[in-house]
Amino acid sequence: MTDDGGSGGADDDEGAGGADDEGSGGADDEGSGGADDEGAGGADVHDREGSGGTGPGGEEGSAAEGLDHEDYVAENRAHWDELAEHHPDTDAYDVEAFLDGETTLRRLEREELGDLAAGSRLLHLQCHFGLDTLTWVRDGGVAHATGVDFSETAVETARDLRDQVGIDHDRARFVEADVLELPAVLEDTYEVVFTSYGTVYWLPDLDRWAEGIAHALEPGGVFYMADGHPFVEPFHWESTADDPQVAHSYFNEDPLTFEHDGSYAGEGFGMENRRAHGYSHPVGEILTALVDAGLRIDFWHDHPWSFFQRFDAMEEREDGRWYLPGLEGDLPFTFSLKAHLPE
Ligand SMILES: C[S@@+](CC[C@H](N)C(=O)[O-])C[C@H]1O[C@@H](n2cnc3c(N)ncnc32)[C@H](O)[C@@H]1O
Repeated sequence: MTDDGGSGGADDDEGAGGADDEGSGGADDEGSGGADDEGAGGADVHDREGSGGTGPGGEEGSAAEGLDHEDYVAENRAHWDELAEHHPDTDAYDVEAFLDGETTLRRLEREELGDLAAGSRLLHLQCHFGLDTLTWVRDGGVAHATGVDFSETAVETARDLRDQVGIDHDRARFVEADVLELPAVLEDTYEVVFTSYGTVYWLPDLDRWAEGIAHALEPGGVFYMADGHPFVEPFHWESTADDPQVAHSYFNEDPLTFEHDGSYAGEGFGMENRRAHGYSHPVGEILTALVDAGLRIDFWHDHPWSFFQRFDAMEEREDGRWYLPGLEGDLPFTFSLKAHLPE
């Protein structure tokens, strides 16, 4: 991050301080693989990490000794910066399909947010290398989108992809910043704030997260998120309908530290920064953080399918969604939430 004195210590390509896109330096599992109606990007869904744990490659364990949240976030940034180098080359993200014009947005957010987003100014939090951000502009009719991510590599790649698909800089902008520092780095406000699929799991403090969302919303503005359901977060990926294995507490407050030379999008990347830290956040904590920040909840929807193969035993159905045989339709694996900032 370069502190440019412009828009508050963030590196954005508005030239508002920091290095602009000359300076600095997603896949989406609804992937292109599937002929399903879940959008194009990405090869097969189970490659993509949902919200929790790292899956087979990375056993979540107790918190690393002697570190504080700043250290955990710094290690997560280094981990994600390396993942951002590898992810664009994975089938899971299938950038070729995106460049060929296929959407990377899933049916869920297209149906629940699509109309609201059309013509709006949209802020995409934790945008990774910007596939969904650019898709909102290219296919979703969003007037302007700003993507925010703390990975310099992800933000640089997003800017390159924007130029590759010929989207104007005034229609899509990318800011390298920690979403927990949003009020200090972003002056603009937006009609829609969007975040999806692998978000709060990486954040130690949801009150700062929610305050940033409220800060970035215009009065009457809408916040929308879709992600892995907190209910299934504690379960080990080897869980089955007959043998549900609880790996950690639903109320876990300490980081879940793990080592992984890969991610939901691939294995064996040869990473240096393999250690990272996740956080499980109960339903009540997510809702209360948003309400305490001044938002009003419009809906919380529970969905009995997963957007990736969270458990080895899960099976993908024709609609590109994953179900657990034996408990099909009985457990919430995904949630979507819409809220607004009162006028
Ligand atoms: C699982 S990915 C999100 C995937 C995204 N939905 C997509 O379309 O590909 C998680 C993202 O969160 C970013 N991230 C994690 N912690 C962050 C933080 N504190 N501030 C900003 N970005 C963060 C990572 O760099 C990564 O790009």
